[in-house]
Amino acid sequence: MSVAKKDYKRITVKTLVDMKANGEKISMLTAYDYTMAKIVDGAGVDVILVGDSASNVMAGHETTLPITLDQMIYHAAGVVRAIERSLVVVDLPFGSYQSDPKEALRSAIRIMKESGGHAVKLEGGKEVKESIKRILNAGIPVMGHLGLTPQSIYKFGTYTVRAKEEQEAEKLKEDALMLERIGCFAIVLEKIPAKLAQEVAESISIPVIGIGAGNGVDGQVLVLHDMLGMTHEFHPRFLRRYMNLYEDMTNSISQYVKDVKDLDFPNEEEQY
Ligand code: KIV
Repeated sequence: MSVAKKDYKRITVKTLVDMKANGEKISMLTAYDYTMAKIVDGAGVDVILVGDSASNVMAGHETTLPITLDQMIYHAAGVVRAIERSLVVVDLPFGSYQSDPKEALRSAIRIMKESGGHAVKLEGGKEVKESIKRILNAGIPVMGHLGLTPQSIYKFGTYTVRAKEEQEAEKLKEDALMLERIGCFAIVLEKIPAKLAQEVAESISIPVIGIGAGNGVDGQVLVLHDMLGMTHEFHPRFLRRYMNLYEDMTNSISQYVKDVKDLDFPNEEEQY
């Protein structure tokens, strides 16, 4: 049974800002297809992120870099067809916004037109400021993403906690203020110290959604397949697994194989 607040008929970017102002925490999960998005939306999740983590989770790539704009649009369109209440935010994939603001706008417009998503998310601070401004000027809501930004994994070299050093923490704080100032409606903070994340959340009026950023922020996001325990090789400290679907699915599928081999399936009632 869902304990989410159902009194918002439809979540908009304004709803999220109001939630922060009212002290109500925001729930966000990823989804990449129609069937999963229908369950996530029906369970009362406020924001569905069609994350470029689809590159890992759905396509089996090692990083988020290979996924294309066309593939993101394909995933997002399925999600949008499923939802009744959640806000759908779609990641701009690597290479679709970094080179120049015009290309960033073209990519964001394709996402909005071809998938029906409600907003886009992109990674980075002042390096992508002009691209974000261009997208915002076209009336497209933008969610920022700071801290561990997986599209820059080859620059970082590792997925460890970011902004532990003073200099990087200062830049992150400046970037968060800048993202609020230019008009982003929310920011994801990934894998940074909880104290820093709380400080950022308290310094701005737009919602800060954390993943591995502690409890002092305005909402939480997890990758759906991780929190359901469908993936099992990934054990970051911040991940709470609510199910062990890897084991349950493996057991069910093994049972099916056995039933077929033993001529137990289909039985009399399961045929015409
Ligand atoms: O792509 C993704 O799933 C994300 C979340 C980890 C925030 O960006």
